[in-house]
Formats: sequence, C-alpha cells, structure tokens
Amino acid sequence: MKRRIIALIIGVEVMGKGDRNFYCGECGARYPKWLGKCEDCGQWNTITENIPFGEKSKFSDAHLNLQNLAAPPEKLDRKLSDVGEFDRVLGGGIVAGSVALVGGDPGIGKSTLLLQISVALSQDYSCVYVSGEESAEQICMRAARLGASDAGVQLACETDVDVILNSLGSDVDFLVVDSIQTLQSLSVEAIPGTVSQVRACAYKLINFAKTTGTTVFLIGHVTKDGAIAGPKILEHMVDTVLYFEGERGSSYRILRTVKNRYGPCDELGIFEMQPTGLVGVTNPSVLFLTQRDGGVPGSVVFPGIEGTRPILVEVQALASKSYFASPRRTVVGWDINRLFTILAVIESKCKISFSDRDVYLSIAGGLKISEPACDLAAAISLLSARSGKVISSETCAFGEIGLTGEIRSVSRCSERLKEAEKLGLKKVILPGSSNFSKDSAIEIQAVDTLMHVIELLGIEYR
Ligand code: TYD
Ligand code: MG
Repeated sequence: MKRRIIALIIGVEVMGKGDRNFYCGECGARYPKWLGKCEDCGQWNTITENIPFGEKSKFSDAHLNLQNLAAPPEKLDRKLSDVGEFDRVLGGGIVAGSVALVGGDPGIGKSTLLLQISVALSQDYSCVYVSGEESAEQICMRAARLGASDAGVQLACETDVDVILNSLGSDVDFLVVDSIQTLQSLSVEAIPGTVSQVRACAYKLINFAKTTGTTVFLIGHVTKDGAIAGPKILEHMVDTVLYFEGERGSSYRILRTVKNRYGPCDELGIFEMQPTGLVGVTNPSVLFLTQRDGGVPGSVVFPGIEGTRPILVEVQALASKSYFASPRRTVVGWDINRLFTILAVIESKCKISFSDRDVYLSIAGGLKISEPACDLAAAISLLSARSGKVISSETCAFGEIGLTGEIRSVSRCSERLKEAEKLGLKKVILPGSSNFSKDSAIEIQAVDTLMHVIELLGIEYR
C-alpha cells in the first residue's frame, strides 16, 4: 500500500514535468525541450511545442455526432475543366472544395498547366490566380503565348497569405496559388519556404477551401530528390497530390496522382508541351511506339495498364561486353531490383550468363513502369539483346516471372490484348494461365516457364 502511494506521488511528479511537449512535425518524435534538429529523422526546424493536454479539456462539453456506414453519401460535386487529361487524373473532374497540390521540377510546366486550367475553368466559373513567383507582366506574357489574353481569370501577385484570404470571398470557385513555398503568414516568425511557414500557410488555405467550398490548387517545389519540398505533412494535409514530370529534352509531360481522396491514385495524364502550351495526348500508345526501329535485337513491346487505360510501350535492352570488374546494371523507367531478379532467374534457370556483360534496360519514351506484368517483356528483350535474336516489331509480351522461372498470370488481359490489336500488333506472348475473352484476331502464344519462352523464340545461347 505504502509503495503504491509513493509510486502515485512519483507518477504525478513525472506527469508534471512532462507538461511541455515538443514534437517533430516530420516524424512525430517527442522531446522534453526544443531542439533545432530532430535527432530521430535529422530534419532541421521541424520541432514545435504541443498544447498541454490539460488545455484541451475546455472542449470536453462538445459531443460527437455518430452515424452508421449506411448513411447516404453526399454526391460529390465534380466540375469539369476543358482539359480532359487533367479531369481524368483527378478521377473524373475536380471536386468542389478540395485542395490539390501539384509538384514538379522547375521549368517542367506547372505554372503553364495551372494557368491553362484556370483559363479553361474561367469560361464557367470564377477563377483567381495568385502568383508569388512571377510578375503580372510575366504571367500576361504566358497567357498571350497560350492565346488566352481575353480569358476571365483574375490575376494577383502577392505572397502574404492573410492578404490573399482577406481579399477573397466565398464567390471564388477556383484559387490557384503559385507556389506554396513563396507564401508567408506574418503571424509565423520564419522566412517563406520553411517548414513552419509552409505548414501555416497550407493550413490557412485548406481551412479557406473547406469553409467556403472554393477549390484550391497549390503549386509546390520539389527537392533535388524529387519529393515535394517542405514538410511531408503538407502531402498529408491536402486531398490530392499530383506530380508533373517529364524527361529532360523531351516535350512530353506526365501528370501522375500519388494521393487522391476522391478517386484512384494510379492515373496518368499525358501532355505534350508545344509552343502554344500543353496539349493532351489522347492516344499515348501511338506516342510511345512511334520512334521504333524494327529489325534490331533487344526490343519488345509491352502492353501495360496505367490507371484506367492500357498504354503500349517499348522495352529496350542492351547487353554489351563489360570492361569492369563488376559489370554495370542500369535501368531507366523500371525498378533496378526487378532487373537483378530477372537476370538471376535467367542465369539460374536457363543457364544464360550475363556475368561478363553490362546490362542496360530502358522503357522508351520516359514512362515509368511499376507493374510486375512487365517482367516477361523485360526478360525477352534481355534474352534478345544477349543472343542477337531479333523479336518481330509486331510482337508484344506481358506476364510476371516467379523465382522458379514460372510465368504467372496478370490482371486485365483482355484490355491489353485489345490495345495491342488496335495498334496493329500481330502476336502476343502471355502466361498460359491467363483469363481473357478470345474474340480478338491477334495470334496468342501461351507460355508457362522461361525455358518455354526461350524455345518458342528459338533463342540459341552463344
Ligand atoms: P513553366 O510553366 O514556367 O514551368 P514551372 O512553373 O514548372 O517552373 O514552364 C516553363 C517552360 O515551358 C519554359 O521552359 C517554356 C515552356 N513553354 C512552352 O514550351 N510553351 C508554352 O506555351 C509555355 C507557356 C511554356
Ligand atoms: Mg512556375
């Protein structure tokens, strides 16, 4: 009994000391005092003080409104811009009152894309474009280039988030902020772009969107590793996160969803940057297959599925003689660990060695493929590159490869076949266990193991 009383007293003392809590906004680590750098995740300037628990008790007379899952969901109010690829990426239109963050490298076309969206939306809705990065002249010049000087978009150049929000009423349907890193709130003592400023400004803008029903698009910078600059919490706070990407030197741009509270998050929108702005690419397979050079080894077509639509891409491989002690393995647009696995399976199950070869594998056209269905096409292009055997430019292949060399079935076969047929391909190599409707005229070759593929292609190991 005595011990329990002592423990209680000590406990009360410990609780008292713990009144001041500091948390890292990045990783959530807790500290008893403020630090400039989080010892857990190594981020600078992310630690802030939390409100002591006692202070929250003033809300204790508020009540929860509980409901069951069967309550009829409110139908989402989606608005369509004229830009079909953009609406698709958002899951079939822009949800009113949502907040989307668009990130991408400098110069990729974020400002152009959102100005074009604002121009398109301004035909039916009221749109405000606020820039903290460029002068009004620069934006007007861009609008002139887009042929949209007479559009009804209202423009302002401002970096103070409170000025922006004080000037806007609930009659604004769309607000574009270029960019969240340039905004500042004078109530936070930090320079623009720091974690606390970005978080405070994003919080105010999200609050504005949720209370007025205005849809807010935030443009975000990316760090040199390609992630959106600022706290990770920014991505948690918004409803949708989009990345705008493209290869250096290529005019094609890919808009990818990485988070979407109102739709699927594996959707792609493809654009071409032209002198007069971004133009949606409605048939991407044609785009990715146009520059093919038939009759050379190390290339095969892969019918992939990106989001809701099939896209044909070319998988290219090169296996050149290596002059390094440990040969090089390089991939573009695919996962290097998948390449290691496929090479290991080919070596151990088919006894074809790449140990004296530098191996390069690339998805032509700048698309990034993450589907395991691409394994078979990658293996075929590697085998073709290694043996010098040319695969017909009218052949495509898909299937997942297991560690024992078996070819496993993948989803959405019929859609892949239909797209291949539409693009004029004549033959498809696919897993024997696939399920698909047999109404296509395309020649089908089913395979069960990698050895079976080698026999079928007539590859001789030299
Ligand atoms: P921008 O939208 O300013 O990029 P971000 O906001 O992502 O930094 O786009 C800049 C590039 O786009 C610039 O290098 C020129 C090119 N561009 C065109 O090719 N055509 C156009 O119509 C426009 C407006 C820009
Ligand atoms: Mg810009």
